[in-house]
Amino acid sequence: MTTHQAESTAASAATMRAVVRDRYGAPADVLRVGQVAAPEIGSGELLVEVRAAGVDRGVWHVVTGLPYPIRLAGFGVRTPTDPVVGGDLAGVVRAVGSGVTRFRIGDEVYGTGHGTYAELARAAEDKLSAKPTTLTFEQAAAVPVSATTALQAVRDHGKVQPGQQVLVIGASGGVGSYAVQIAKSYGAVVTGVASGAKLDLVRSLGADHVIDYATGDHARCDYDVILDVGGNTPVARLRKTLSRTGTLVIIGGETAGRILGGVQRQLGASLLSPFVRQRLGTFVCKENATDLAVLTGLIDAGRVTPAVDRVLPLSSANEALQLLLEGSVRGKLVLTVSSAGADRDS
Ligand SMILES: NC(=O)c1ccc[n+]([C@@H]2O[C@H](COP(=O)([O-])OP(=O)(O)OC[C@H]3O[C@@H](n4cnc5c(N)ncnc54)[C@H](OP(=O)(O)O)[C@@H]3O)[C@@H](O)[C@H]2O)c1
Repeated sequence: MTTHQAESTAASAATMRAVVRDRYGAPADVLRVGQVAAPEIGSGELLVEVRAAGVDRGVWHVVTGLPYPIRLAGFGVRTPTDPVVGGDLAGVVRAVGSGVTRFRIGDEVYGTGHGTYAELARAAEDKLSAKPTTLTFEQAAAVPVSATTALQAVRDHGKVQPGQQVLVIGASGGVGSYAVQIAKSYGAVVTGVASGAKLDLVRSLGADHVIDYATGDHARCDYDVILDVGGNTPVARLRKTLSRTGTLVIIGGETAGRILGGVQRQLGASLLSPFVRQRLGTFVCKENATDLAVLTGLIDAGRVTPAVDRVLPLSSANEALQLLLEGSVRGKLVLTVSSAGADRDS
């Protein structure tokens, strides 16, 4: 090996390609593919060679720093603390930190990490699980945040029971596409609400009934559980659609508001809940390995399949976030990162 080869090998091990930014702003204005230092791992962490990374609304919030309160959650008040973006990943373990017991170098994993729109990412052991063998890396990367949110909504907050009538508002998106499938796997009768052009997708996910939010109303007035993922239907209207003792779980819903970004509905519902017979609430997803293992079980049993719309190269991260924002994604978008030389931005 020549001196030059040795130097370039050392350099490539110490640096990596990643989607980076140095300020908050619109994805097209602030994101670029650059060469940055590879992450260092600590105790209980793993270094993962990222094969694919999922795209979700949370990444858009972290890139834009909106609504503002998100900056107080450790992302940096004036400027972002972490230059590399991305949360979901599927890849191969390349190094393990002290105290890691469940994984070895070479294991295929999926879950959430730090700065996953990169060739290498740091991830905590307790936020990773073995990649489902039936999924490609691209499919697996579409699972973690969205499907964990849907699982916690159906199981923990909606407490969905067999035979219950469940309404999923926003059934064609990242979280909703999993919520429909998981609610079905819990034995519910599911009605999915989405735009007319995506109702075929919602049906294919297993929904018993579908409603176009532009033209239809919510049809019944006795849903046992409403999982509200998209749009911003007023809580008062949702309550009229819910049975007298039903449960409303507000998972999301975007507005252009820079201060609250739509969270006021969640706050209002939670404040009202103690005074009415219906249960009204919200939650923030807690990503964890145990729930990933539950999802793996559902995937292996054929009860949940990621609805992957498109796989784009890492260099198209800003385009992917724009597509998500425009509402032109059916299910999930995924970025392919380092599989066998794919996505080399030359
Ligand atoms: N609580 C948590 O921990 C948590 C975790 C993850 C995400 N979220 C939040 O959940 C929300 C959805 O995330 P996502 O990743 O699923 O987003 P997404 O993939 O963009 O999906 C949005 C969904 O909302 C639907 N929608 C849009 N306008 C609507 C309307 N007027 N009425 C009814 N439905 C409408 C969309 O339908 P069409 O595409 O057919 O128009 C789509 O199904 C976001 O606000 C996100 O921040 C919360």
